[in-house]
Amino acid sequence: MSKDAACKKYRLGNLFGSCCALALLLSLPAQLPAAELPEKTTINVQTSCSQIAGLDPDKKEVKEFSHKLHAEKYLSGKSAFSAHPYTDAFTCAACHVGAKSAEEITGADKCERLTAAVEQGGGPKKYKEMMHAICQNCHKNMQKAGESKSGPTKCNECHGK
Ligand code: HEC
Ligand code: HEC
Ligand code: HEC
Repeated sequence: MSKDAACKKYRLGNLFGSCCALALLLSLPAQLPAAELPEKTTINVQTSCSQIAGLDPDKKEVKEFSHKLHAEKYLSGKSAFSAHPYTDAFTCAACHVGAKSAEEITGADKCERLTAAVEQGGGPKKYKEMMHAICQNCHKNMQKAGESKSGPTKCNECHGK
C-alpha cells in the first residue's frame, strides 16, 4: 500500500471513529433501559411517597407525564427556558435538580431521592412552587419567546379537569 493510500485509509478510519463516538454520545440517554427511563410517569408525590412528612393533602397530580419524550426530545436545545440549566447530553438535571448522572437517579431509592429533592426545594410546603418552577416556567418562558411548541401553561392542561 502506498503511503498516501494508507494515510487516506487512516483518515477515513479516524473520521468513522469520531462519528461513532459522536453517535454514541448523542444516543446515550436513549440507551438507558426502558425501566430506568420510564416512557410515562404519573406525578403524584403523596401517593407515590406517602412517607414524606409535612406535605399538603393530595389535591392535584399529573397523569401519564410524557417523561421519555421530555428527556429525549422536547428539552433538546431548550435549556435557556429552564429554571435549572442542563445540557442536551444530560437533560435529566432540568427536573432531577442537582443530579450529575443518570445512575444517580436510577440507582437511588425513589422516595429517599424525592425527600432530598423536596428539602432542597425549600421543604414540603414549597413543593407545589418547586414543581411549577420546574415544569410550568419552561412552558411559559417558551410561550413568551414565541416558540411554536411550548407545552401547556393552563392548570387543567397538566392536571386534567
Ligand atoms: C406544566 C404543568 C403544570 C401546570 C400548567 C400547572 N401545574 Fe400544578 N403541578 C404540576 C406538577 C408536576 C405538580 C406536582 C404534582 C404532584 O406531585 O402531586 C403540581 C402540583 C400542584 C399542586 C399541589 C398538588 C398536591 O397534591 O400537592 C396544586 C394545588 C397545583 N399544582 C395547582 C395548579 C393550578 C391551580 C394551576 C394553574 C394556575 C397549575 N397547577 C398549573 C404541574 C403543573
Ligand atoms: C422534564 C422533567 C424530567 C426530565 C427531563 C427527566 N425526568 Fe425523570 N422524572 C420526572 C418526574 C417529575 C418524575 C416523578 C417524580 C420522581 O420520581 O422524581 C420522574 C421520575 C423518574 C424516575 C422514577 C420513575 C418511577 O416511576 O419510579 C426515574 C428512574 C427517572 N425519572 C429517571 C430520569 C432520567 C435518567 C432522566 C434523564 C435521562 C430523567 N428522568 C429526565 C421528571 C423528569
Ligand atoms: C425545558 C423545557 C421544559 C420543561 C422543564 C418541561 N417541559 Fe413540558 N413540554 C416542553 C415542550 C417544548 C413541550 C411541547 C413539545 C411538543 O409539543 O412538541 C412540552 C409539552 C408538555 C405537555 C403536553 C404534551 C405532552 O407530550 O405531554 C405536558 C402535559 C407537559 N409538557 C408537562 C410537563 C411537566 C409536568 C413538566 C415537569 C415535570 C414539564 N412539562 C417540564 C418543555 C418543557
